[in-house]
Amino acid sequence: MRKRVLSGNRPTGKLHIGHYHGALKKWIELQDEYDCFFFVADWHALTTTYDDVSRLKNDTREMVIDWLAVGLDPLRCVLYRQSDIPEVAELSLYFSMITPLSWLERCPTYKEQLQELKQKEIATHGFIGYPVLQAADILIVHADFVPVGEDQLPHLELSREIARRFNYLYEDYFGEPKAILTEVKRLPGIDGRKMSKSYGNAIYLSDSPSAIKRKVRRMITDPQRIRRKDPGHPDVCTVFALHEVYSSDILGNIETQCREATRGCTECKDILAERISDSLKEFRARRTQFEKEPGLVRQVLKQGSHKARPIARATLREVRRRMNIE
Ligand code: TRP
Ligand code: SF4
Repeated sequence: MRKRVLSGNRPTGKLHIGHYHGALKKWIELQDEYDCFFFVADWHALTTTYDDVSRLKNDTREMVIDWLAVGLDPLRCVLYRQSDIPEVAELSLYFSMITPLSWLERCPTYKEQLQELKQKEIATHGFIGYPVLQAADILIVHADFVPVGEDQLPHLELSREIARRFNYLYEDYFGEPKAILTEVKRLPGIDGRKMSKSYGNAIYLSDSPSAIKRKVRRMITDPQRIRRKDPGHPDVCTVFALHEVYSSDILGNIETQCREATRGCTECKDILAERISDSLKEFRARRTQFEKEPGLVRQVLKQGSHKARPIARATLREVRRRMNIE
């Protein structure tokens, strides 16, 4: 039997090239080697956006269309929406009974987010329980591997601890999921900070070639290179950081010409924009096609939940039996 892989994403709407290089590219590869489960974590989204749910449906739709267009194939992996699998919520409830509060309080992502989202009331039961729900996502399908970015490692560790505690209390049942680190290097956005929707600095997979060109033209370069004849420093240039991803075949040239001031920044940017645009050609065609198919996303998610639910039901049946709730 093939090993199982599971990962999820909160519905963030349209995806950007950071999402692609950070995770999706890896997910697409994994489809061929493992039984893969990829899901829209809409309940997790609610932990911080419960006060504005207006975009939830549309963000889910946009993200799933991007998933499909980028090459996640509903025939080769199971794509579903968390909230279509109510068994996940029930498993999360059982896990919440056996998870000490102290484990959750010391979770670094919890502490960080509390700081970051200060203006918002997120000191809620649901929010502190975020990793418990995540453990339920993972363990309900008995995932062997979980592709995630580095920031998610504490959550995965908690999932393992919850599995261990369950096994200790009710006899061995869950395996301990392992991480597959997906993020090699964070892509910078056009302002040089990490690419993120919330910073407004992202290049989206669905951006048109002209939008990409415009955004790349606005990118921060070497701040010390004021005139064309000033030698540049590629190591501090955001444009160069993206060339590392999109132009590996001519990287040496770019670097030398930049340092020798034989290459202008505008030209350098336009080449990058073209590279990014070209890499998205196929994606763009598929996305346009999928957008035209009404009901496609709904149908894909429905199909996916039909595959995931029997597995979830079987796990829950066993959990209930062990906890004497039948
Ligand atoms: N917490 C993850 C994130 O913010 C999303 C997520 C929810 C997830 N459940 C998961 C990831 C289970 C992997 C496995 O990116
Ligand atoms: Fe950056 Fe290219 Fe300008 Fe060098 S030439 S500073 S790499 S944009």
